[in-house]
Amino acid sequence: MTAKRKKLYEGKAKVIFAGTTDDTLIQYFKDDATAYNAQKHAVLHGKGVLNNAISCHIMTLLADAGIKHHLIRQISPREQLIRKCTIIPVEVVVRNIATGSMVARLGGAHIPIKSGTPLKTPMVEYYLKEDALNDPIITEDHIVEFALASREEITFMRLTALAINHFLRNIFHDINITLVDFKLEFGRANHPLPDDPPLILADEISPDNCRLWDKATGDSKDKDRFRQDLGNLVEAYQDIATRLGLTITEKHYD
Ligand SMILES: Nc1ncnc2c1ncn2[C@@H]1O[C@H](COP(=O)(O)OP(=O)(O)O)[C@@H](O)[C@H]1O
Ligand SMILES: [Mg+2]
Repeated sequence: MTAKRKKLYEGKAKVIFAGTTDDTLIQYFKDDATAYNAQKHAVLHGKGVLNNAISCHIMTLLADAGIKHHLIRQISPREQLIRKCTIIPVEVVVRNIATGSMVARLGGAHIPIKSGTPLKTPMVEYYLKEDALNDPIITEDHIVEFALASREEITFMRLTALAINHFLRNIFHDINITLVDFKLEFGRANHPLPDDPPLILADEISPDNCRLWDKATGDSKDKDRFRQDLGNLVEAYQDIATRLGLTITEKHYD
């Protein structure tokens, strides 16, 4: 399947291969799950196929809502053809409900916040995408000072991330899922088109980088199942795919 492809980069959850033309890449979704900066690792059969399908579906819905992204098309169960970008090494996180690292970092006497507390307003955070440093949280001023992105690009990422939050919340609300938080990556297209915005949405949108809570039961339907050893991760991702109307079943996992 990938024998002829030229591997350019192998990440924790995906592999990037050379594309069919100079301005494209192929993004291949592995079954590997990692957490806590890859200290914890497992191979979960079916995860890659489900994430590829879910991400393609969501990116397509976002395009209909006017969000420009890197996806050209899905080319196989584990692969998508994407536009080649130079990724901004900043992970953009949007939060609707406090949980995870935010509660661990800030919860205390001054901010007595508990996991599961809804935020009054969705908030955006930035993290440096650098595994060796454990992806530290950074500010707008760090991003500008160290020339990771311009002030205008940060404003674009922030407003686009909030618009994406609005659309994603509705998509998940319709399938009885609460969108708790999620992470985005943006890139500068290597071959910009005339109607491109300054940055386009890249990477993936899947239960690997969204927190998704079942509205009826409160169950996590995302990578927290792996982080917290809750089990049945693939079943949870399959449930999300099915609720989104995707016709994937176990027989498509290979
Ligand atoms: N359109 C794109 N152009 C170039 N690189 C991309 C694009 N979309 C995603 N990437 C990068 O490809 C890699 C995807 O593999 P992943 O396993 O997520 O890696 P990582 O472990 O670095 O997060 C990421 O480093 C991501 O930044
Ligand atoms: Mg990644």
